[in-house]
Amino acid sequence: MALVTTKEMFEKSMKEKFAIGAFNINNMEFIQAITDAANEAKSPVILQVSASAIKYARLPYLIKMVEAAVETTDIPIALHLDHGPDFETCKMCIDSGFTSVMIDASSHPFEENVRITKEVVDYAHSKGVVVEAELGTLAGVEDEVSVESDDAKYTNPEQAYEFVQKTGCDSLAIAIGTSHGAYKFKGDAKLRFDILEKVKEKLPNTPIVLHGASSVIPKLVDMCNDNGANIPGAKGCPDEMLKEAGLRGVSKINVDTDLRLAMTAQIRRVFNEKPEVFDPRKYLGAARDEIKETVLHKINDVFCSGNKA
Ligand code: G3H
Ligand code: 13P
Ligand code: ZN
Repeated sequence: MALVTTKEMFEKSMKEKFAIGAFNINNMEFIQAITDAANEAKSPVILQVSASAIKYARLPYLIKMVEAAVETTDIPIALHLDHGPDFETCKMCIDSGFTSVMIDASSHPFEENVRITKEVVDYAHSKGVVVEAELGTLAGVEDEVSVESDDAKYTNPEQAYEFVQKTGCDSLAIAIGTSHGAYKFKGDAKLRFDILEKVKEKLPNTPIVLHGASSVIPKLVDMCNDNGANIPGAKGCPDEMLKEAGLRGVSKINVDTDLRLAMTAQIRRVFNEKPEVFDPRKYLGAARDEIKETVLHKINDVFCSGNKA
């Protein structure tokens, strides 16, 4: 199967009320683990690449490895730019064969966000590529786009409608309480489903995206800490909330932190339990297996995208 845009998978997700996992990739092990899991579960999947992933792995390497995954699997795979910081980065990815890009101008004032997003949409659409945009800001630091305040700034549903009309973006990332990284909630986890509901009322046909949606899987955090890591008190978005988000109309759920934890947990475990090991295939292989298990769990138990390919 060739690389696809997210158009058809999102249409199906909105009709049948499930979410599609968008997983960040940085190297071969991530790409193989994610696409092997999606292929086994017969699920559509989005592979996403941040500007820092491009800096780390280099664009031609990432693209060629994704092409290899597409050639050796039988599921719809979209290649997406995550948190595109500007028009130039989006254009570079579009010209290199990405089927989807995100322009994240959410830290700019509304009209500036509209202007930057519209410029990307016009170019992307002329090349058959779809665009995700963002309105509202998540707490913390979004990739290379910095957010000034620590407080999550929820998306305004009225503005969301105006934003989509003015920009023509294909999908919209909204802020309802999630945030990036391993420390998402100080107290109890809470998502503003009331805001999601209002956004869906205004925009019933626009696929909605949830960033910062790792559950920060306790078993993986423990495995890291038991093997020498220092990640105390990490907390993510509970699986039940993510499942509910999928049922309430979220089409794309972004996961990076959980896969980082999966890789780190296994590498640390192997180093700790088998200090004599120095063949990278031994610990990278264990890491790849753990990433695959994690993705299978998300697809089958949380996003409900299995057998939707
Ligand atoms: O949302 C951001 C992603 O987790 C990517 O992070 O810029 O460190 O690759 P990164
Ligand atoms: P997490 O940090 O919760 O995995 O979020 C990833 C993300 O939103 C990538 O865009
Ligand atoms: Zn994100």
